[in-house]
Amino acid sequence: MRRWTVSKSVSACWSVCVVYLLVVSVSCGRACAVQKALRVDNSSSLSSSSSTSTSGRHVRSYVHLQGDVRQRKLFSFQKFFLRIGRDGRVNGTKRKDDPYSVLEITSVDVGIVAIRGLGSDLYLALSKRGELYGARNYGINCRLKERIEENGYNTYASAEWRNKKRQMFVGLSAHGKSLRGRKTRRKNTATHFLPTML
Ligand SMILES: *[C@@H]1O[C@H](CO)[C@@H](O)[C@H](O)[C@H]1NC(C)=O
Ligand SMILES: *[C@@H]1O[C@H](CO)[C@@H](O)[C@H](O)[C@H]1NC(C)=O
Repeated sequence: MRRWTVSKSVSACWSVCVVYLLVVSVSCGRACAVQKALRVDNSSSLSSSSSTSTSGRHVRSYVHLQGDVRQRKLFSFQKFFLRIGRDGRVNGTKRKDDPYSVLEITSVDVGIVAIRGLGSDLYLALSKRGELYGARNYGINCRLKERIEENGYNTYASAEWRNKKRQMFVGLSAHGKSLRGRKTRRKNTATHFLPTML
């Protein structure tokens, strides 16, 4: 009788463990990318954001709330914050207090966002020729297709323009310079960004 109880509780424990492992591995993709980024850059503003941005992401990806507005920074795989200068130039900064890196990300359509720099009041835009710049008015160049990649980072592709049938992405070089859309690829980490809370 006692032996039966023991083996039963052992197997109950096993199933709890299996369920736990499943949950952990399923939820890992995004969280791991956030954590990996944080391990190198341990800013407290970033770490306080990770869990909320992860759950916010979850809701947004599956429910596709339109008109959903979030204030975020876009933290690149190369550890730059994307910034939109007053002069319309887009590049990266390592500074955590750069007002031009504070962005407002709005869902404008299913899977499509508009990204406005709050410091410059300009929209992140990709032209037909692949130039990345800050646009004064919202238009088709500002419609960006947001997608979560396998490593948990996001990519932002022009929803309007392609270069010889290839998508063009928002990208920053390893030195924090903006990349021509025509030179960008989904698989290249130069196009990978984490939206982080302020
Ligand atoms: C985190 O960064 C601060 C400076 O921003 C530094 O003083 C601290 O030692 C760092 N902590 C770890 C665990 O790296
Ligand atoms: C980005 O542009 C600003 C303003 O022109 C400049 O001060 C900064 O050094 C640039 N950052 C990089 C990484 O080139």
